[in-house]
Amino acid sequence: MENRERWNSRLGFIMAAVGAAAGLGNIWRFPYLLYKNGGGAFLIPYFIALLTAGIPLVILEYFAGQKTQSGAPRAMAKLTGKTWEWVGWFALVLVFLISTYYTVIIAWVVDHIAYSINLAWQPNAEVFFFEKFLNRIPPDQWHGQLGNIRIPILLGLVIAWLAIFFSIFKGPKLTGKIATVLMITPLIILVIMVIRGLTLPNAVEGLKFYLTPDFSKLKNPQVWLDAYGQIFFTLSLAMGTLIAYASYNPPDNEINNNAVITALGNSSISFLGGFAVFSILGFLAFTLGKPVSEVVRSGIGLAFVSYPTAISKLPGAPIWGVLFFFMLLNLATTSAFSQIEGIVAGVKDKWKISRTLALVLISLASFLIAIIYTTQGGFYWLDIIDHYISAFGLTLVGLMEAILIGYIYGTSKIREEVNAVSEIKIGIWWDISVKIITPIVLIVILVMSVIELFQHGYGGYPANTIKIGGVVYLGGLLLAIVLSILKGNKEE
Ligand code: PHE
Repeated sequence: MENRERWNSRLGFIMAAVGAAAGLGNIWRFPYLLYKNGGGAFLIPYFIALLTAGIPLVILEYFAGQKTQSGAPRAMAKLTGKTWEWVGWFALVLVFLISTYYTVIIAWVVDHIAYSINLAWQPNAEVFFFEKFLNRIPPDQWHGQLGNIRIPILLGLVIAWLAIFFSIFKGPKLTGKIATVLMITPLIILVIMVIRGLTLPNAVEGLKFYLTPDFSKLKNPQVWLDAYGQIFFTLSLAMGTLIAYASYNPPDNEINNNAVITALGNSSISFLGGFAVFSILGFLAFTLGKPVSEVVRSGIGLAFVSYPTAISKLPGAPIWGVLFFFMLLNLATTSAFSQIEGIVAGVKDKWKISRTLALVLISLASFLIAIIYTTQGGFYWLDIIDHYISAFGLTLVGLMEAILIGYIYGTSKIREEVNAVSEIKIGIWWDISVKIITPIVLIVILVMSVIELFQHGYGGYPANTIKIGGVVYLGGLLLAIVLSILKGNKEE
């Protein structure tokens, strides 16, 4: 039996796992989805998705990592047979691609910490972000070209990578400690921001907007798909990260309660993020004399346009800017750790290679590809790759994981094994959700996403994004298959 690296403590593992889950997705994706899909009413599909697919799959992935003491590829091979090792590699290819652009968004965050000091985005955050900072090629003129590298983004990227590299360089013992600090800091900042937000004039209007339930939306299947999609993305399921993290636990470590703590910790951060963002947007609407709906943006615009605009109106604006982006930086960096660690674990399981060398090679490869997204055309590449991976990749891998491990290894056997080590016990409902509910929901999501794609394409770009997505997937699949066929040089 190899001498596997270990976490420093149970707390270190939980903090690293919550850190992996809580990231950019919690601060800009969750609040926006909640508002778009019926406000408070969205919490119903969200929690149903959390209970029927989220927590059950976290348990499954923790089990897979702990039982096999392996990252995703070897875990798949051991639990379901060598034929399926490629599914694990495919997960790692996807998370590698995510890391290439996730780190670029971290670079934007790093730069915005500096811009906060003199509120560089004034007077118009939208013009500043898209035209000055990204200096992007106008959408109607973009056909895939890159243009020049944006030096501030490249610098931010280097800083982001140095932070990531040195935090995980030593292995999980230290990562656990660093993650604990990096997770407690943003929590404190979030609470301060919520208090500040709630004491602003008109905050209540923002919150009403965020939370007032519109139950009629629940009839729309898209709302349910969004809920399941968000649960997958936010919990970092189907990317090999949770499997790798769990593999650094001893084989008889607690599972069920840890899964519940991770999931609820992550959702609490999302919820808190929503309060922070919408209370301030209520205030912004008030100062501009506009309805809240006109100041809310989706996705990236929420963090880099709406929020900066709002804090410029606060006394002590630079401090709030620094706090906000520093919080995002902490949350996002711990997610980036987990992306890279998942790949390192997979590679080290198969080949005799030092942690440092594996880390250097993977980081360098990701960094070099990331440079594409630091260009004037890079924003569009980022948007497209992100869409393809979160719309199809995660659902596809999640589906295969649930079906393969659920049926080949067998859920009843897993249930016995996890209950034997866990503080809370799971019942037959768990089998049902892994073997039936999750696969059905994921198949529906996949089919609907494919139909939508072929009907409407993506993003209205003049460039052919379906071709780009196709090349990425075929290339990724091929790479995963090759990696699984290659002979390892490590005896087990
Ligand atoms: N869950 C993270 C978020 O919500 C993103 C992430 C993706 C983390 C992949 C790890 C692996 O931002």
